[in-house]
Amino acid sequence: MNILLLGSGGREHALAWKLAQSPGLGQFYAMPGNPGIAEHAELIEGIPLSAHDTLVAWCRDHDIDFVVVGPEAPLVAGLVDRLEAAGIPAFGPTAAAARLEGSKLFTKELCRANGIPTAAFARFTDAAAAAAYVRQQGAPIVVKADGLMAGKGVVVALTVEDAVEAVEQVFAAGGSEILIEAFMEGEEASLFALVDGETVVLFGSAQDHKRAFDGDLGPNTGGMGAYSPAPVLTPELERRALDEILIPTARAMVAAGTPYRGVLYAGLMLTADGPKLVEYNCRFGDPECQVLMPRFAGDLLEVLHATATGRLAQVTPLWSEDAALTVVYASRGYPGPHQIGSPIGGIEAAAQDGVLVFQAGTRRKAGVIVSNGGRVLNVTATGPTLSAARDRAYEAIARIAWPDGFYRTDIGWRALGGQA
Ligand code: GLY
Repeated sequence: MNILLLGSGGREHALAWKLAQSPGLGQFYAMPGNPGIAEHAELIEGIPLSAHDTLVAWCRDHDIDFVVVGPEAPLVAGLVDRLEAAGIPAFGPTAAAARLEGSKLFTKELCRANGIPTAAFARFTDAAAAAAYVRQQGAPIVVKADGLMAGKGVVVALTVEDAVEAVEQVFAAGGSEILIEAFMEGEEASLFALVDGETVVLFGSAQDHKRAFDGDLGPNTGGMGAYSPAPVLTPELERRALDEILIPTARAMVAAGTPYRGVLYAGLMLTADGPKLVEYNCRFGDPECQVLMPRFAGDLLEVLHATATGRLAQVTPLWSEDAALTVVYASRGYPGPHQIGSPIGGIEAAAQDGVLVFQAGTRRKAGVIVSNGGRVLNVTATGPTLSAARDRAYEAIARIAWPDGFYRTDIGWRALGGQA
């Protein structure tokens, strides 16, 4: 089968690494990819993922049998609809189904209509009314802008003043509608499922670390490290999340005439009353995918293709008993302003004995790998225990020579009994 993988981050490098092991793989292309992905696939540059017509024509010219979409933006923009209309199967939801990530309001209304556990909420199109509601409810309280905000647009406000300021910022930035949600107490975990209409198959769990610095301090990021499985998500809690959140969501999407097909990533809050939905994403997490792929023991191409073509019910994903942990090596300054273009040494020395160095924000310049973004490398190790995986990942990252980078030294602390 000839495949095109879309995207250029660590998530897509992990997908490429795993797809490359599939016996059914024919020609393997990635658009635009990165130097890590280039070890597995031929890179195709110069076609923006938003240029749907050009992309579909390229797929036809290159006999592409299957497209795997990594990031959310092309999904929300309807690329899968276009590919399917052209007769090219693709992994990922249609635009209508990708609203589960693209519109927080859509998801909250779906939860309300179907009794899916989530934080109580109110919606506002007017800053003054939203601020009055915040004052009446008190803090802590959560303020969310609608729409894709690249991980931003959510403020957990600890004071009423901060919440009112967040409301004003959303409207000042051109937001037209806002959600105010009750604050939920508990531990967060991510649960992944493959979904094909009403068929929902769990596909691993993980926890990530959103703050930039050790001790869960500093600004929010896209994620500074992750591990899988998430021990806090016990089999009983997973079952409840499946029965109370994921399956009712899949059924509601089918009932609405917009069946979901692809991976559904549920951000959960594990509260005293059980798991509640924080948010959905319509793609694999980044860096969560980097710890799922080394643990997935099956044929990824077969599983993704079965999901995309209505055959998920015939598939049972196989998993290793090992734990996996990834540490993100980021550019100094991230998530704020940072330099790019600085040379990175020691990647091969780090990638020994089964350690995987997934490349996220890199490019090749005169034969040397240089930084090309905020989150640059994901140093990933497995082990019979999470602490063994952590030790291997940290031994490996210490072999990388990159003075312009930084990483957290406490990835895994929640599960391993450390302290934030
Ligand atoms: N790591 C969070 C995300 O992928 O959205």
